[in-house]
Amino acid sequence: MTAVSLKDRDLGLATGFVPTLGWLHEGHEALILRAQKENDKVIVSRFVNPLQFRKIAYKTYPRDEKRDVKICRGLNVDYLFSPEPFDMYPPGFDTGVEVKDLAGKLDGASLRWHYRGVITVVAKLFNITQPNRAYFGSKDPHQLALIRRMVDDLNFPVKIISVATKRDKDGVALSSRNSLLSQKEREAAKVISKSVKAIGARVKLGETDRARMTSDLIGMIEAEPLAKVDFAAVVDADSLTQERFAEKTLIYTAVYIGKIRLTDNRVVKNRKAGG
Ligand code: PAF
Repeated sequence: MTAVSLKDRDLGLATGFVPTLGWLHEGHEALILRAQKENDKVIVSRFVNPLQFRKIAYKTYPRDEKRDVKICRGLNVDYLFSPEPFDMYPPGFDTGVEVKDLAGKLDGASLRWHYRGVITVVAKLFNITQPNRAYFGSKDPHQLALIRRMVDDLNFPVKIISVATKRDKDGVALSSRNSLLSQKEREAAKVISKSVKAIGARVKLGETDRARMTSDLIGMIEAEPLAKVDFAAVVDADSLTQERFAEKTLIYTAVYIGKIRLTDNRVVKNRKAGG
């Protein structure tokens, strides 16, 4: 592995890019393997982006560069881009990239600043690494929808590819944040995936009352004393609203387990619309 090189693109080689916050896990590995299948060279970035975190969460986010380098070497990643905040945001940095309406959907109303930080850093990373394809986990469907919007709106020459969420054996979605949970909290986190799956089964059976399914989802999750739902929604997977009766329904939730905010979702084909 060496520093990022744009020569490959000049040589006509296809480049796949996997942006990460570091603390790589099997979920990232799935993205890297998929990128390797579809491209000649793969670039991974690891950068804890201060623009998308509250102060304390930024400080406590797990970091271990040596470990990440070892994982990338083991997977034969071609380039690892590991900038410091100063490299990305030198003094005088003053630009932000924002997707407007769509950012306010789902739990975005109170998190506009977060999504602005995500979209800004992703735009910068795309410009730095110049990939043909970029790979994201589908664990954060809102982030994914915003990145797709930004790429379409600003004509970034990159194809966005989403890869199914990797889960532990007990169903819990893999996330770097899981490492911050105590044993008791990790046990409690199971309720999130179980509840999302249960609502998904109801959608599959043809249930369409999204408001009712949303409140049932909250009820199921909060039956676990350590879980506090920050946001829950059962919505049309494209417009992210409850109004449209869609072919696909997104069941999405963000839940605090203690102080750690975890998200999970499933996209389920609606039986009535999809046949
Ligand atoms: O989902 C993530 O890991 C981050 O939000 C991303 C896309 C790497 C931007 O910092």
